Amino acid sequence: MDKIVIHGEQRLTGEIRILGAKNAALPIQCAALLTDTPTTLRHVPRLSDVKTMGELLVGLGCTVKGDRTLVIDPAGVASGPLEAPYELVKTMRASVTVMGPLLARYGRCRVSLPGGCAIGARPIDQHLRGLEALGAKIHMAHGYVDLKARRLKGANFSFDVVTVGGTQNVMMAAALARGTSRLENCAREPEVQELAIVLNKMGAKIHGAGTSAMEIEGVDILNGIDHAILPDRIEAGTFMVAAAITRGDVLLEHAPIDHLHPVIAKLEEAGAICRVEPRGLRVIGPEALRPIDLVTRPHPGFPTDMQAQMMVLATAAHGQSIITETIFENRFMHVPELCRLGADIHVNGNVAIIKGPAKYTGTTVMATDLRASASLVLAGLIASGKTEIRRVYHLDRGYETLEKRLRQVGAKIRRFHGAPN
Ligand code: UD1
Repeated sequence: MDKIVIHGEQRLTGEIRILGAKNAALPIQCAALLTDTPTTLRHVPRLSDVKTMGELLVGLGCTVKGDRTLVIDPAGVASGPLEAPYELVKTMRASVTVMGPLLARYGRCRVSLPGGCAIGARPIDQHLRGLEALGAKIHMAHGYVDLKARRLKGANFSFDVVTVGGTQNVMMAAALARGTSRLENCAREPEVQELAIVLNKMGAKIHGAGTSAMEIEGVDILNGIDHAILPDRIEAGTFMVAAAITRGDVLLEHAPIDHLHPVIAKLEEAGAICRVEPRGLRVIGPEALRPIDLVTRPHPGFPTDMQAQMMVLATAAHGQSIITETIFENRFMHVPELCRLGADIHVNGNVAIIKGPAKYTGTTVMATDLRASASLVLAGLIASGKTEIRRVYHLDRGYETLEKRLRQVGAKIRRFHGAPN
């Protein structure tokens, strides 16, 4: 098992290039199942989640070649098992996103129910309700859900909850249904818009992605395409916080500025300078950060995937901040670990009250989920002495060579192999 060791209190300066977005890549990998011809994806981040999705596709009968440029050939899926097994779904919930494409293209599939995860219960009822509205017959037994439909039919459907994965699953299914679907209360995240761009390139007829109502005219056939994955707004946001809390000056090359407005607004409220330049976004940290109040919301609100990182910024600010998490019920797992490093955070339900500035002193801490791990790295960057982070495999799900890229801007951070669990 790897560990990361940070010697903190270094000011970060220089440039970091933002890589492809994990949450855009994963559903687009699934979209390759909607066709019979190969799809080429470029700027794919080298992440364990992307690899897990690749393994799932191979298990389904695809051939998958390359890593930064992925070529997915679904020719063998027709004779494959049409099943997403428990072993893969339990390591990565996004595996359930194969459901819509398999059902639409092959008329059946079997997917393990994901169960809970570290940040909450995370049901898939909305995915299933949407697919049922399109005509799927659903049977649940032995921890698996079986879906069948001879040919899906376009329908009007409104999500009860705004769900990114649910919207993506149902829109992929509707793309190959007979007739027109109208989906309401859809997720508006950039990764949903990106999937619509990809599907339309494949030959789908999707209108309104990026708004809460989508109209999808079903087509009979979709074709493989060549597509470059958009840069990762959460990776960019994480480096923005790193620059802000270290009084740094970092240019984030290729940062997806249009998708970062909620994060930019909060960093500016805290006193950081965020400047759009021809090559990307420059973030300059102030001498003293101001406290912030933030509430996580579906896009275009503040992203829950940046909440843990902003918690570190709040602990570094002079005064009291309030952070409210409304998307996931158990997403404060980083709080006890941040407190071990010296933060003053009180949690009451889904509200965290943070009193800063914290005097972080390094110690050994444990990563619990992807974004919580990122927050521990950020805290380590401003802690005095040595911070050791265990279970960093969580980080590798969503950040490519994080320590190398932070080192490039002046952080004293190293990965060691073979640490205790
Ligand atoms: C995606 C992102 C994840 C991000 C989340 C919210 C990917 C691969 N992952 O996850 O990084 O944190 O969006 O922005 O893109 N819900 C239901 N029923 C459902 C589906 C969801 O009640 O059928 C609830 C969830 O429990 C949660 C909320 O809806 O409280 C939002 O979840 P959702 O948007 O579905 O998250 P994911 O797509 O799993």
